[in-house]
Amino acid sequence: MKIAVLKDAGGDEARVAATPDTVKGYVSSGHSVTVTKGAGSAADFADTEYKEAGASIATSNKTAVKGADLVLSITGGTQTLLKDLKKGAGITGLVNPTDNPNYAKACAKAGVTAYALEYIPRISRAQSMDVLSSQSNLSGYRSVVEGASIYGRAFPMMMTAAGTVAPAKVFIMGAGVAGLQAIATARRLGAVTTATDVRPAAKEQVASLGAKFIAVENDEFKEAETAGGYAKQMSAEYQKLQAELTASHISKQDIVVTTALIPGRPAPKLIDKKMLASMRPGSVIVDLAVERGGNCEGAKAGEIVTTKNGVKIVGYLNWPSRMASDASNMFARNLKNLLPLVTGEDGSYQPDWDDEIIQGCALTRDGQVVHPRLTGEA
Ligand code: NAI
Repeated sequence: MKIAVLKDAGGDEARVAATPDTVKGYVSSGHSVTVTKGAGSAADFADTEYKEAGASIATSNKTAVKGADLVLSITGGTQTLLKDLKKGAGITGLVNPTDNPNYAKACAKAGVTAYALEYIPRISRAQSMDVLSSQSNLSGYRSVVEGASIYGRAFPMMMTAAGTVAPAKVFIMGAGVAGLQAIATARRLGAVTTATDVRPAAKEQVASLGAKFIAVENDEFKEAETAGGYAKQMSAEYQKLQAELTASHISKQDIVVTTALIPGRPAPKLIDKKMLASMRPGSVIVDLAVERGGNCEGAKAGEIVTTKNGVKIVGYLNWPSRMASDASNMFARNLKNLLPLVTGEDGSYQPDWDDEIIQGCALTRDGQVVHPRLTGEA
């Protein structure tokens, strides 16, 4: 098949959906690959490396997608670009289907199949294709590293001739993929680490990383995980108990990383102004949920806000893009693992519509929006 790799870079996006390494694999499997000029430059992959891997370089995305069967992209490309794709072609991306329903409609109109990578089912067979996990893992790591660089004190305890430096106290709220990596990173840096979550399964995972688990463990907590492994929206009563617990704990923390999300809903508010006011000057909150409204009151997308009492709230967007090279490597491998599901025996582009992974992530087919989450059937 003919594969095109878009230059997604622009705005805050520095990642690329194929690396010279994965391109080499595609070419050796008999596919032809066209990469848009400069597609990987923001992630430290040069055009010459793509050429050496067997790709041809196109001057623009518009030229790259001409005649392509499958377009590899981080963001799903622009709606204008969709019109340049061949009818029946496929395009991948983290396209945020619930917040951006017009994208699926535009794909249907263009007769293009959109593969929404955030909808890849979280089943064992799909783990190697799970873009959400590979990227969240890096976000969790980076949140602690950036938090540490903004924090004006050290992380590990240091006993020196000039006196003792106390270890930083780090609190991770939400112990999913990002949160668990944040815990591991904070521990590696020597912080005294605690974590919370509403899912009971998280308790053991937090403990296995050597952090202390703190949560309201009542009957509602025991039922807080959906069949898909995600958190449920908690009741107002639970939220009140959780806020009381957070308030008593947070005033003693130096760095707080919040990662709490509930699928299809705004991020739960976990830190209010009163809690922020109880923290000491120089403390840092890193709010990874800011794209979905934030877990911390006052967090601003893309900014660092300093409260009156000197607490810094970091609201950076697109954390994986801050480590574009590794993030692209993982993203590209996820896509390489997805490729067999859209490849026929003769190597041509043929999505396996009977496969639950394809059914799970394809938004459109033959000019129609077909995904049950967009048609209202799920
Ligand atoms: P996520 O990004 O949707 O949420 C992050 C975390 O926030 C979750 O752990 C969630 O329980 C927590 N949270 C939600 N509301 C909260 C609140 N009010 N207070 C505190 N914490 C709250 O979750 P993520 O990281 O995508 O992982 C969700 C689950 O999926 C996990 O159980 C993970 O182990 C599982 N998973 C399974 C995979 C597979 O089987 N292939 C792959 C990746 C993840």
